[in-house]
Amino acid sequence: MNVLKKVLLLVLIAVTVSCQKTKVTKVFTEKDISIIPKPAALQLQEGSFEFTENTQFVATDAAQKEIASILIDKFNETSGWSLELVEQAPAKDFVQFVVDEKLADEAYTFVVTSDKVLITAKGNAGFLYGIETLRQLLPASIESAKRISSGEWVIPNVTITDQPRYKYRGLMLDVARHFFKMDYLKKTVDRLAMLKMNVLHLHLVDDQGWRIEIKKYPKLTEVGAWRVDQEDKHWDGRYTPTADEKGTYGGFYTQEELKELVAYATTKNVEIIPEIEMPAHVSSAIAAYPELSCFGTPIGVPSGGVWPITDIYCAGKENTFEFLEDVLTEVMAIFPSKYIHVGGDEATKTNWEKCPHCKKRMQSEGLKSVDQLQSYFIKRMEVFINSKGKILIGWDEILEGGIAPEATVMSWRGVAGGVEAAKQGHDVIMTPGSHCYFDHYQGPQNEEPLAWGGYTPLSMVYTFDPTVDTMTPAEAKHVLGGQANVWSEQIKTEAHSEYMIFPRLAALSETLWSPKESRNWEDFSNRIVTLFSRFDYMGINYAKSAYLVTHDVQIDMKTQEVSLSLKNEFPNADIRYTLGDKKLTEQATKYTQPLKIDKTTTVHASLFKNDQPVGVPFNTTIEFHKAVGKKVTFKETYDDQYKGEGEFGLTNTLRGTKNFTDGHWQAWLGKDMEAVIDLGAATAIQEVTLGTLENQGPGIYFPTSLTVFVSTDGKTYKEIGVEKRDFAKNPSFDLKDFKISFEKQSVRYVKVVATSLKTLPNGGKAWLFVDEILIN
Ligand code: ACM
Ligand code: ZN
Repeated sequence: MNVLKKVLLLVLIAVTVSCQKTKVTKVFTEKDISIIPKPAALQLQEGSFEFTENTQFVATDAAQKEIASILIDKFNETSGWSLELVEQAPAKDFVQFVVDEKLADEAYTFVVTSDKVLITAKGNAGFLYGIETLRQLLPASIESAKRISSGEWVIPNVTITDQPRYKYRGLMLDVARHFFKMDYLKKTVDRLAMLKMNVLHLHLVDDQGWRIEIKKYPKLTEVGAWRVDQEDKHWDGRYTPTADEKGTYGGFYTQEELKELVAYATTKNVEIIPEIEMPAHVSSAIAAYPELSCFGTPIGVPSGGVWPITDIYCAGKENTFEFLEDVLTEVMAIFPSKYIHVGGDEATKTNWEKCPHCKKRMQSEGLKSVDQLQSYFIKRMEVFINSKGKILIGWDEILEGGIAPEATVMSWRGVAGGVEAAKQGHDVIMTPGSHCYFDHYQGPQNEEPLAWGGYTPLSMVYTFDPTVDTMTPAEAKHVLGGQANVWSEQIKTEAHSEYMIFPRLAALSETLWSPKESRNWEDFSNRIVTLFSRFDYMGINYAKSAYLVTHDVQIDMKTQEVSLSLKNEFPNADIRYTLGDKKLTEQATKYTQPLKIDKTTTVHASLFKNDQPVGVPFNTTIEFHKAVGKKVTFKETYDDQYKGEGEFGLTNTLRGTKNFTDGHWQAWLGKDMEAVIDLGAATAIQEVTLGTLENQGPGIYFPTSLTVFVSTDGKTYKEIGVEKRDFAKNPSFDLKDFKISFEKQSVRYVKVVATSLKTLPNGGKAWLFVDEILIN
């Protein structure tokens, strides 16, 4: 450690008194700097710069002045100042924008010395990002909407040279499944800019709502923007309204509002990319203009889940293409973006196979499959979009049947579509579900608001890399960047939307902006604490799920001893716990190693920061039973997709949540589960319980019966009890324990047979999900 650093550590705050006024000189260490995304290069120097009511901002045009006002407004709000904007730099005490044409588009350099702050960039994008960096160098309280009496607006002397790793850094908001007000979109633009993100992709069309005014087709919003209000019901439990039922729930944006949004976003270096879905996810358009579908059958705007999506535009009728060209002409007049997103995902083309218009089209165009017909559809739209000087983006389904020649692919079903598109020489935006779907859970499902499913915690987002290792350098050049997608089936409110976006967007921003080599989860986990504090001041309803403590259970194969480990997303986290009914205070035991469990045990735990518990506390009761750690043999092993925790998955005390992908469930597809548990020796038992899940949307059904048999020798079994449950329609997700009690008896082997529904009401195979077999 050099002398300077020693001094810095010893003396944190020094106050030097000048003759006129007290000037605060804070001494900084690197730990005091918490910028997200992390700048490409930063050197901390001795000294600091203090903002006072006399500090001036030097800006030479309207755009620079608007960028400076982001910060000026904050100072004025927190300190009651009226900071001045000037065109000529004074002798000292100022922030100045300096043009350097040689810098890259979004790059900037940022130099703080004790008498000034210089932000150098080619243009406004770099100036904006310099200001956003300056904002994050200031104490979090600069975000306060209230007056701060003791603001010490001091920043360290630093030199920063910064530029993004990827040029496309996006967020998609699904405003179709639930409508969000314009004001929220503008707020979202501000927050994107704060994290140096530069694309807001608006998913303006889906089955459940058409959200953009199109003057030539007024029914798109008169009819298509409104659905029958069934918001009190689960998304997949809503009936499908008929064409003559009037919708009252929804909304849309006028063209004027959208133009205003675009203009606003431009000042924040955010490009708005409109998505006009086709040929599927368009029930709302077909409800307005039924003639756009193959058979012209009138439909209502669906209030909830539609699957599979068969009400799609007819690819045979010429009027479909006229309609879409008219719509896109109006769309392009609103959005200057060079990209037009046409969706293209999840079309079930069964109507196309039967439709005389579509069949005729396939014949005249020499198309051999409906996939090729979709390819024809998208290629034809691309010709139109290219003719207007724009580029088509589509979800990765546009690869099927042959991709349009100039298209950019948004890869969502993993990264494979993106890899393939790059191989074929197309530009790619990576949005794999695994890392970028912010409609997924970010913490244990039982602690979280209802989400679509999946599990994408903060630490997972932070590992995102849009460039895949197997890509050649030429292919990698086609990767424009990445994007988070916030599908809103389960997200009805702004508060909930914020919860799903933050803090995960901060992690994503760093993966897209900062050099890959600087990525460091532990370092990020320290910096995010300051960002949380900013979010608190800004009133953002961010998730604290990363603070949640979770548990895991290990079973020693030899001794069958069970131990419980506590975990958190952050390494070296200060986790403290108590057992039984003891209260969780700062005196709770610090967790250092797994705890041995040999009886039913209640555990309370929390992450602590500065001796205070943070986040939602963890409480669980590990239900110990006689089969814990005992070997299970199956007649037919569980499916490869759902292996739970493997060998001891059903006898390790770990229970599943309503999220069937949480890693605790073992599952069988279209078959029964037959398991034999060897208790190791004759054991007195009187009850067998089977933990199960139902989620009929994806085909998961409770067993139709549970039968338990016992044996002393593992050869001859005696049936000891049976419970039946008839199939019933169930729109929600439910957990259920099937329990069979009997007279106490001594046995060594227990056979558990759970019969599956096997075949779904609409054909297809049913899943049977099991998380634990408890024997007592
Ligand atoms: C998608 O998630 N269907 C693009
Ligand atoms: Zn058709």
